[in-house]
Amino acid sequence: TEHNVYRSSTYAPVNIAVIKYWGKRDPTLNLPTNSSLSVTLSQSDLRTHTTATCSASYTSDSLLLNGKDQDISTARTQACLRELRTLRRKLESESSHPLPELSSLPLKIVSENNFPTAAGLASSAAGFAALVRAIADLYELPASPTELSRIARQGSGSACRSLFGGYVAWNKGEKDDGSDSVAYEVAPASHWPDMRALVLVASAEKKDVSSTSGMQTTVKTSSLFPARAEQVVPKRMKEMEKAIREKDFETFGRITMAESNSFHATCLDTSPPIFYMNDTSRAAIRVVESLNQAAGKVVAAYTFDAGPNAVIYYLAENEAEVAGTFKCILGKKEGWEGQKGKAVTAKKALN
Ligand code: PMV
Repeated sequence: TEHNVYRSSTYAPVNIAVIKYWGKRDPTLNLPTNSSLSVTLSQSDLRTHTTATCSASYTSDSLLLNGKDQDISTARTQACLRELRTLRRKLESESSHPLPELSSLPLKIVSENNFPTAAGLASSAAGFAALVRAIADLYELPASPTELSRIARQGSGSACRSLFGGYVAWNKGEKDDGSDSVAYEVAPASHWPDMRALVLVASAEKKDVSSTSGMQTTVKTSSLFPARAEQVVPKRMKEMEKAIREKDFETFGRITMAESNSFHATCLDTSPPIFYMNDTSRAAIRVVESLNQAAGKVVAAYTFDAGPNAVIYYLAENEAEVAGTFKCILGKKEGWEGQKGKAVTAKKALN
């Protein structure tokens, strides 16, 4: 028998937090202990491409990432699929004309990352954002990016921020059911078009402590953590939103670096301690510090997630100084490896 195959494809870019999400108040729903804020890179740079198809000819749901079969039975992935199918079922039952019952068909999801997976380059963020949007498009759901962010959050917390471009905040929310723990746009990428991000791949290897287990241990054991979640971050969220609205790079950069350091300090303060940065990461910090010192102002700002790779934010007017300096140094130094084994200085414009 012939079976229809329904299909939809989408891209979701990586987002890099300048105010870090680290700590869950509810590990099942991925509800965070603090709000966070990130910059979404352009989709021509680091991104996931995902195609979702469904058909009665498939025997079960499946997920392929970079050509490899993935475990689709994890609670995170199942939560996303369940929410999306529920919304589709609602559409099918409320529609005035008969709709195909896609909600009951097995799904086949095929994803490709154009960057190293799980090396602290926010692969799960782009991955779950693309998965959720591809299926939402396939199901023709009338869901807003905010609603989709609520679903993607359950796949991976940071994924909720990749449903918007530009400058994106994730409100921690107050409710226990997570209905208000969603992302919103602070400003579109076009608001600050000369913002640039340089991604320095120090290692393309998988990180040794997953963000989920790392955060859990930090929340349980770090004495620095409560002050960070309750006082430091709420204050910085306000300052950061203002800096973005006013295109104040000095403040943007200062908070970005302080946030990265605060996050990695709570990691070190975790028992057993978590080390995401390595010697190469620290060398990058020193380069940024000396660039800023020489300029007499903040021209470059580093940030590191759950891995040793650096993201350096800077403005287009300082391209030669910042990107030029890194290219010069990387030409000689070992330790910076790209997917193909050579030094990577992937310069990423945001739009
Ligand atoms: O979304 P997760 O569970 O992969 O956690 C991401 C945590 C950081 O990348 C370190 C910070 C952030 O806000 O993205």
